[in-house]
Amino acid sequence: MDEVIIAPKSMIHGDEMILLNRPYIDSFVSQKNKIAFIEVGSQRGTGSTSRLSVYAQELKMHFITVDADADNASGAAEIVHRVNPAFEAHHALGEVFLDGYNGDSIAICYLDAFDLVTDWPHKESTINSYKIRNAELSNQAAYDMHLKASKSIVDKVISGGFVCFDDVWKDRSGNWQGKGKTAIPYLLDNGYKIICYVQNSLLMQRVDGLQEDEMQKVGRYRAPGKIGLLYLKRRLASFFS
Ligand SMILES: C[S@@+](CC[C@H](N)C(=O)[O-])C[C@H]1O[C@@H](n2cnc3c(N)ncnc32)[C@H](O)[C@@H]1O
Repeated sequence: MDEVIIAPKSMIHGDEMILLNRPYIDSFVSQKNKIAFIEVGSQRGTGSTSRLSVYAQELKMHFITVDADADNASGAAEIVHRVNPAFEAHHALGEVFLDGYNGDSIAICYLDAFDLVTDWPHKESTINSYKIRNAELSNQAAYDMHLKASKSIVDKVISGGFVCFDDVWKDRSGNWQGKGKTAIPYLLDNGYKIICYVQNSLLMQRVDGLQEDEMQKVGRYRAPGKIGLLYLKRRLASFFS
């Protein structure tokens, strides 16, 4: 393992970031046909795959989740098949899967895969999962994996579609850190805009190719107040825990 980075405590998780911004996201994607929601990094006890697949079902999006860990991928398959037998769960490296992906256009991609090495220790089972597949658990590997994944989808996400990262934050100099350390600047340079950031998750939108009125909608958007309230509530709770 390489150096340990100090990570701020996560207040809003990536799947919450997506669901709390639903009215805005829905306004861009709900009228489209043949679109997909791809989650890279299936749930590991937290319920993201379950919640996000239900959301995809409600919006008639195809749902795909991908995980490099065999057990996690088979658990995810059971979860998504209960929601819709046509939904997919793949045991694969997310960056490789996305590179070869040529299915329905991507409306939403949630990138929350290769784990960081932070001051929040990993469970033994997580460390073993990387050992089993001979992958060195390192921050550089996490940055590279999320950058590769972003390069693979940069043009596969529809105009107005979304990319969400979990485990990302800004340091004191304003630089992005965490899983999206290099992927976020890459997407910003390639037609994507930041829509909502709350420690430690980030929602971005592909804005190149949008019509003038849609661009105005992007510019006017303010995240719902309940996200700020949830952040404050958890922040306060963290002082007393
Ligand atoms: C933090 S968990 C995902 C949690 C889930 N997305 C959520 O919001 O609760 C990270 C997952 O990414 C998986 N993973 C690690 N490297 C990967 C890779 N290169 N491609 C796909 N999945 C990967 C791990 O096996 C682990 O299950």
